Amino acid sequence: EESERTARIEAALEELGDDVVVLGHNYQRREIVEHADFVGDSYQLSKEAAEADAEYVVFGGVTFMAESADIITDDQTVILPSMEASCPMAGMAEALQVDSAWAEITAATPDADIIPITYMNSYADLKAFCASQGGLVCTSSNAHRAFEWAFERGDKVLFLPDKHLGENTAHRLEMEDEIAEWDPWDPEGKDAAEVAESDIILWDGYCQVHERFRADHIDRVREANPGANVVVHPECRREVVEAADVVGSTSTICETVENADPGETWAIGTEIHLTNHLQRWHPEVEVLPLCGEACMDCNAMRQIDPNYLAWVLEELAEGRERNVIEVAPEEKELAAVALDRMLEI
Ligand code: 13P
Ligand code: SF4
Repeated sequence: EESERTARIEAALEELGDDVVVLGHNYQRREIVEHADFVGDSYQLSKEAAEADAEYVVFGGVTFMAESADIITDDQTVILPSMEASCPMAGMAEALQVDSAWAEITAATPDADIIPITYMNSYADLKAFCASQGGLVCTSSNAHRAFEWAFERGDKVLFLPDKHLGENTAHRLEMEDEIAEWDPWDPEGKDAAEVAESDIILWDGYCQVHERFRADHIDRVREANPGANVVVHPECRREVVEAADVVGSTSTICETVENADPGETWAIGTEIHLTNHLQRWHPEVEVLPLCGEACMDCNAMRQIDPNYLAWVLEELAEGRERNVIEVAPEEKELAAVALDRMLEI
């Protein structure tokens, strides 16, 4: 069945020629990345989308990535093979909810300039909101630079939605004493006046894949594999990042294994599809999942089934555009400002 589907995808791609570019995030299934023109992390894919001159960008990734591709490109049509591929973390900071938190926090700090920074893993309306308040977007590979950019222009940062990336970035900048958490779901939580005393205010969002890694997974992998090295994504909890040897975006994780000496052992603390790709791509390195017991699999990324890829490509080859991701024009312009600020830092 797979060979039949591969043949269908290849035939549709041949028919479409230069009209289509296929982008694949590192967390996509093997059957998707094998057909991608570019495979990479969120930042690299947003750059590839910005530079693509094909009429169609077919995105192997999740909604916020396809939205960002639509925001960044001029005339291209962006297609997401499954409309169900939505990152749960992006849904944890809804623009309306952020709007009311912003009103409370800014009212509590009349003399301070707060700069909002949103992680790429957020929807276009939140990116637009950040731009409207003088802020920007960042990815896991440039969050520290986004913070530096913000502190050159303002006194405080509100970072959304990923509290772990925010906390890990604050540590990287030696600002860990400046952190306060804003929990929009907890009526007993800190109020605006309390969080406003800190310079870094973190929204209480998280990735349900990376949050499941624990420091004792690292202890156990090291115990079972003496000499093993550990690389993790900065969406992991602070104690996991602290215990790891290397921390970085999915492209940093790829480079770390690529640059390892043959025979070295690397345990990978990220989404399982990337760990599996690294095992295939680098058989000379011993690549292990950091947590072998539970499957650290992102159900949003997994929605991009290769059958859907075949379908959207075949439909395109027949002249029918399916699953087009189009950001509303009023949001698009402002969200582009937030993304451009990121691409410039
Ligand atoms: P990267 O930007 O490191 O590719 O990460 C994207 C993501 O969704 C991580 O969970
Ligand atoms: Fe979202 Fe986490 Fe999946 Fe990345 S791995 S797309 S942050 S749920």
